[in-house]
Amino acid sequence: MLRIRKESLKPGMRLAKPIFTEEDQLLIHKGEVLKGPFIDRMKNYEVKEVYIDWHHKYPLEIMEGIIQDTRNQVKEQFKKSFHRLAEKENTEFKKIENLVEEILSEILDNKKLLIDLTEVRSTDNYTFEHSVNVCILAMILGKAIGYSKKNLRKIGLGALLHDIGKVGVDEEILKKSQRLTDGEYGEIKRHTTKGYELVKSLDLLCEDSRRIIRDHHEWVNGKGYPKGLRGKEIHPFARIVAICDQFDALSTDRVYRKAWSFSDVVEYLIAYQGEIFDSNFVQAFLQSFEIYLEGRLIELSSGKSAVVRKFNRSFPTRPMIQIIQKEAKGIIEREFLDLTKIHNEKIIKVYH
Ligand SMILES: [Fe+2]
Ligand SMILES: [Fe+2]
Repeated sequence: MLRIRKESLKPGMRLAKPIFTEEDQLLIHKGEVLKGPFIDRMKNYEVKEVYIDWHHKYPLEIMEGIIQDTRNQVKEQFKKSFHRLAEKENTEFKKIENLVEEILSEILDNKKLLIDLTEVRSTDNYTFEHSVNVCILAMILGKAIGYSKKNLRKIGLGALLHDIGKVGVDEEILKKSQRLTDGEYGEIKRHTTKGYELVKSLDLLCEDSRRIIRDHHEWVNGKGYPKGLRGKEIHPFARIVAICDQFDALSTDRVYRKAWSFSDVVEYLIAYQGEIFDSNFVQAFLQSFEIYLEGRLIELSSGKSAVVRKFNRSFPTRPMIQIIQKEAKGIIEREFLDLTKIHNEKIIKVYH
């Protein structure tokens, strides 16, 4: 299976997954062979990505992501509840709990833990999308680490509300595209303690979940905020959310910078394990999410195109790949390369 943009569709390609519009309307079923007129019609729809069968000799399996429907419902409801909570109305809290329960049951129903991250996260409406993404990622990571359902619920709730304190921060500062002054940065940093105090004053969440809100910017080397806690002094749930929070934040376009590429974000997590992030949890993160999913089209530093053939759990940014070449008669498959053995070649772009 290969994921491509709709602009790259050609007649005769067979769909490996159904295509939905952004409004979740089914356009065409899985298994259909595309015809010219349909491809033309597709131009009128907002469709993010399309999965096609790549080569029948290589049946590549991917897991369905968190169903788009659940994600949209969660986001809409969360948007309503977020402001009411901030205005100290805790009647909405039950709804938030139900949302987390719904995501959790989807995560627990999935037998396999390999989740495609591009399906977990998306980009508009930053704070809400971000909160929902972090909630999903954190529960999946928590599951991989082996936490019980009860604990996953606590992780999910804390993760969904981890940035609730931002409602108390001036929007101008949050959206500022220039460099922040020390004072402004200090103001942003206070979203951790503000959020913690808010949920405490409303008597919401257990202390374990509240610690996620307070401690998700602590670093294991003691250089984070608000308290400069070190290693195990930081609640494990907050250490989980710290990874998911950074992962999602860096892979999203922001007003002040472009999204980082997947490989750069992954390299960043690896580079800062033991300093910012808990090393064991980073390892669990890399292993539970297939960063370079099989079937994904990539571009190498040498300019060649390739397809990921086998994800490498020990070196997630260096999978087994197969070089492909575009020629007049179509795409030709070339040699297989094990990127752990080839040091002068690096993945510079992942098409997703
Ligand atoms: Fe935060
Ligand atoms: Fe965040």
